[in-house]
Amino acid sequence: MRVLVSGGAGFIGSHVTVELFQAGYDVLIADNFSNCDDTNYNGVCKILGCEIPLVRMDFCDSAEVEALFNRFKIDAVIHFAAYKAVGESVAEPLKYYQNNLDSFLNILGQAKVHGCNVLFSSSATVYGEPEQCPVTEESPRLPATSPYGNTKQMCEDFLSDSVNAYDNIKGISLRYFNPIGAHPSALIGELPRGVPNNLAPFITQTAIGKREKLRVFGNDYPTPDGTCLRDYIDIVDLAKAHVCAVKRMLEDKMESPYEIFNIGTGTALSVLELITAFEKANGIKLNWEFAPRRDGDVTAIWADPSLANKKLGWKAERSIEQTLAAAWAWEKYICTLG
Ligand code: UFG
Repeated sequence: MRVLVSGGAGFIGSHVTVELFQAGYDVLIADNFSNCDDTNYNGVCKILGCEIPLVRMDFCDSAEVEALFNRFKIDAVIHFAAYKAVGESVAEPLKYYQNNLDSFLNILGQAKVHGCNVLFSSSATVYGEPEQCPVTEESPRLPATSPYGNTKQMCEDFLSDSVNAYDNIKGISLRYFNPIGAHPSALIGELPRGVPNNLAPFITQTAIGKREKLRVFGNDYPTPDGTCLRDYIDIVDLAKAHVCAVKRMLEDKMESPYEIFNIGTGTALSVLELITAFEKANGIKLNWEFAPRRDGDVTAIWADPSLANKKLGWKAERSIEQTLAAAWAWEKYICTLG
């Protein structure tokens, strides 16, 4: 069985490629390298000890997508190729709508022609600022707070409407909480361009001295220590959820043509708790200070992952210390690359 991984050279896509291949799937990566270099692709090949087929292409180009699906028999596609910076999406909404929607529409169009299953990389952002935590898949999707969040909601709808209308395709949306960490080999991981937006890479870059100080956004939230609560999920655990979901689709185990699963740990950590866990896991003292709240941040969100635990037979297994030790090993490795 062949799985196409769009955006397979990125942070999540590279880890998913490794897990799929190790589970016995043929994997085909397609990426336009607009937001990454070859580091993760090379790392994937090194971990797996072979050259994973790679097509350099743009999913917004419908002719290229058509040619790809005509050239390869694809049983399932996992779609990661999208822009993902929340703040940038507010500044450049059309860039986000055009890229994230066009690419997915092109994939769905070919999935329909070829009868191919589709796994969409969605996000906890679709829940907006939830009234109750943990959130289940039944929790309401509240208005998104950014164009990026809108694209996630819209793509979920594109997928559910398509599988309802066309009986030769099935779809799953996985709603990720906060993916962090790196592969235990330290050969693949997160490689933000410029100043990181997200907490975990900002922590590791501060620890290594690329950034002078971490700013903790807000200390007056209605949470136990005043900082925001999130569900930080190890990237390898997250990648394994994709293998379970692909297996479920390809082995005809789905209970309806469209399914949604939360992919999180079920545990909430505050920003300060994550900093402390990093310091403990790696024996490092981090330079940080409080700063004003960041626009658009929700106070608290964490998953109820019990549906995924039960139906996918998947559970997050790695401890936060293991995850943060892997993130630190990766940061040290990329530092040696220059
Ligand atoms: N934070 C800091 N300092 C930083 C960076 C982040 O204090 O330098 C704080 C944020 O304020 C927030 C927490 O760390 O409280 C986590 O922030 P991230 O940017 O790492 O993650 P978010 O929860 O904001 O965003 C993540 C994904 C998005 C997704 C969103 C909602 O990165 O893609 O969850 O699902 F949209």
